[in-house]
This record gives sequence, structure tokens and C-alpha cells, in this order.
Amino acid sequence: MAHNMNVLITREQIADGVARIGQEITREFAGETVILLGVLKGACLFLSDLARQIELDATFDFIAVRSYGTKKESAGEVQLIKDVTTPLEDKNVILVEDILDTGLTFTFLKKLLQARKPRALKFAALLDKPSRRLMPVQADYVGFQIPDQFVVGYGLDYAERYRNLPDICVFSEDKGK
Ligand code: IMP
Ligand code: MG
Repeated sequence: MAHNMNVLITREQIADGVARIGQEITREFAGETVILLGVLKGACLFLSDLARQIELDATFDFIAVRSYGTKKESAGEVQLIKDVTTPLEDKNVILVEDILDTGLTFTFLKKLLQARKPRALKFAALLDKPSRRLMPVQADYVGFQIPDQFVVGYGLDYAERYRNLPDICVFSEDKGK
């Protein structure tokens, strides 16, 4: 099946959005240390660019979750498949995600991470699809709000593919005639 791609957010726009979030975090946590906690695998490109826009004493950690469902829809059940390796108690933790969609993943991670008693827990999402929300959550830092369209690139995948595209593209399957 052929896949159609249309650029929605260019690499230049992404860089501007990431820089803006980096400045906000730098300002809000001035004089403090932060842990950038990336949600594998989608957030790894965003985290690596964001980290270079944050002028603070920062460390990295990673967490991985799986949500069962089809290639385009998560099914509502989130499972932890890799935990952090550093203690979060009394630390400033910035959870870094590629996209906030239904909010199920963030709701799951928020509960898990709050139990570790961080000093602050903030949530940075490069993309936000507010119209898809099933849980009443929002991100503290958002790069771009997007409509209800499935996107790939800059870390985001379709069945593990297209994460390495430099632009964020709207993806659709060309079902033919
Ligand atoms: P949520 O739990 O529904 O908020 O979804 C979060 C996760 O769903 C993200 O971390 C992505 O892995 C995936 N996801 C949601 N929307 C898209 C999309 O448009 N493209 C690729 N992955 C997506
Ligand atoms: Mg994914």
C-alpha cells in the first residue's frame, strides 16, 4: 500500500518551536538542575534538540511505554516497558513527549512519576492534538497544536517507520481505487 506524505511542520518551524520551549524552561528553572525524561522512542529527536536549547545543568533519563492498539490508534491500555534509572525524589523532572493525543499515556506516566515525589513535574509535548483528548490533561510546554490528523517524522512513527524524516508530515494510506 502506498503512503502519502504532506509536510505539515517544516524543519525550520520545528527548530523555532523547540528553541521557544527551551527558552521557557531555561527561564522557569533558572539556577536549578533539571532531569529531561524522554518517552521512548518518539521523543528522542525532540529531546536531543531541546536539550541543546536549555541553558541549565541538565541530565537525561528515559522511560518506555507501550499502548496496545492498531498502528494509528492507541487502545487505552498503557504498560511500562522500561523504567527510569535515576531516583526522581526532590528533582525537577521534565517529561518530554513527541505528542499529546488522547492523554492516556500522560495520565499513566503522571501517576507513576508523582509517586516518586519529584520537586516539580512538568510536561513538554512537541505536538498537541487537543480535539482527541479522552483525559483532562494538558502540557506545560507545547510546540504546536495540530488538527486531528495522523502525523509522522521527527521521531513520530507509523508502524516504527518514518521516525527519521526531518519534517513533520501528515500521513495517509493511498488505498487506490
Ligand atoms: P496518547 O496516549 O493518546 O496521548 O498518545 C500518545 C502516543 O500516541 C504518542 O507518544 C505517540 O506514540 C502516539 N501518537 C499519537 N498520535 C500520533 C500521530 O499522529 N502520529 C504518530 N504517533 C502518534
Ligand atoms: Mg508511537
